[in-house]
Amino acid sequence: MSKHTVGISERVTLQTLRAMTSRSEHITMVTAYDATFARMLDEGGADVLLVGDSLGMVIQGQDSTLPVTMDEMLYHCRAVARGSKRAHLVGDMPFMSYQTCPKDAVKNAGRFLSEGGMHAIKLEGGAAMADTIARIVAVGIPVMGHVGLTPQSVHAMSGFKVQGKREEDAQRVLADAKAVAEAGAYAVVLEGIPSELASRITAELPIPTIGIGAGPHCDGQVLVCYDLLGLTPERVPRFVKKYEQAYERGLRAMQEFRQEVRSGVFPGPEHSFGAIPERVTPSVTAAFGAETSDGINEFQAASARREPIRG
Ligand code: KIV
Repeated sequence: MSKHTVGISERVTLQTLRAMTSRSEHITMVTAYDATFARMLDEGGADVLLVGDSLGMVIQGQDSTLPVTMDEMLYHCRAVARGSKRAHLVGDMPFMSYQTCPKDAVKNAGRFLSEGGMHAIKLEGGAAMADTIARIVAVGIPVMGHVGLTPQSVHAMSGFKVQGKREEDAQRVLADAKAVAEAGAYAVVLEGIPSELASRITAELPIPTIGIGAGPHCDGQVLVCYDLLGLTPERVPRFVKKYEQAYERGLRAMQEFRQEVRSGVFPGPEHSFGAIPERVTPSVTAAFGAETSDGINEFQAASARREPIRG
């Protein structure tokens, strides 16, 4: 097993990501918004967990990322940091938390590390953001860039549209990616651009590129976790692959629960507490828990410690 594959408990760092890229080992990045998902995705081997401002759409049900605030981002960052042990953690700077001036940008970037438990921040924009990126990097905060389709500029782009299709637009995206790298970013997300352009940028940049809707030639790939798990029932964009049908599975589980509640099948004795009858089976005893010398059973002791009860 290589040093950086699933099963190694050490934390992924910038050095790890650079080493992976120099070995042509692709980086796997995925969004996460809470502790339980962070734990699952981390255990599944994600190298990078991004607390994306996409949470505005998938968690909050907004139709863009624009309404997301710093406080909302930090709340989700803290939850993800609690759930993750191995992945490198990146917090996404929300709209207007860094565009106003470099001073605001540095201050808000710092909050992601000091209050959110993140290891780095991501921000959108190319040449126009180079000075801001350099200022954040200068105070010791690693910055991941994001060029191409930048969702915070949805109105300027007249919608979520693939960027860089015409030669002059492709040149602009390439120049943006180069500006971000020269400003000191350690990696850059390439979103919604043609595969050949992503391939060219990847070849010309000294830092890892992480693609979403940018084809197979990037140094890594990122997906929104709700998309890859199939939790978004509506039609997903072409670049998304659903690795699970979690929405349909959840729907079926809910229907079964409702049916068992209505018919009285749930809760059965194995899910109930109370006086243990004479004829209980060993599994029921295990579920209730053996009494301790203080007369406290496992349920009471665990609930007093706010621990999950295991049957
Ligand atoms: O907010 C987000 O989830 C992102 C990824 C799609 C890169 O920026």
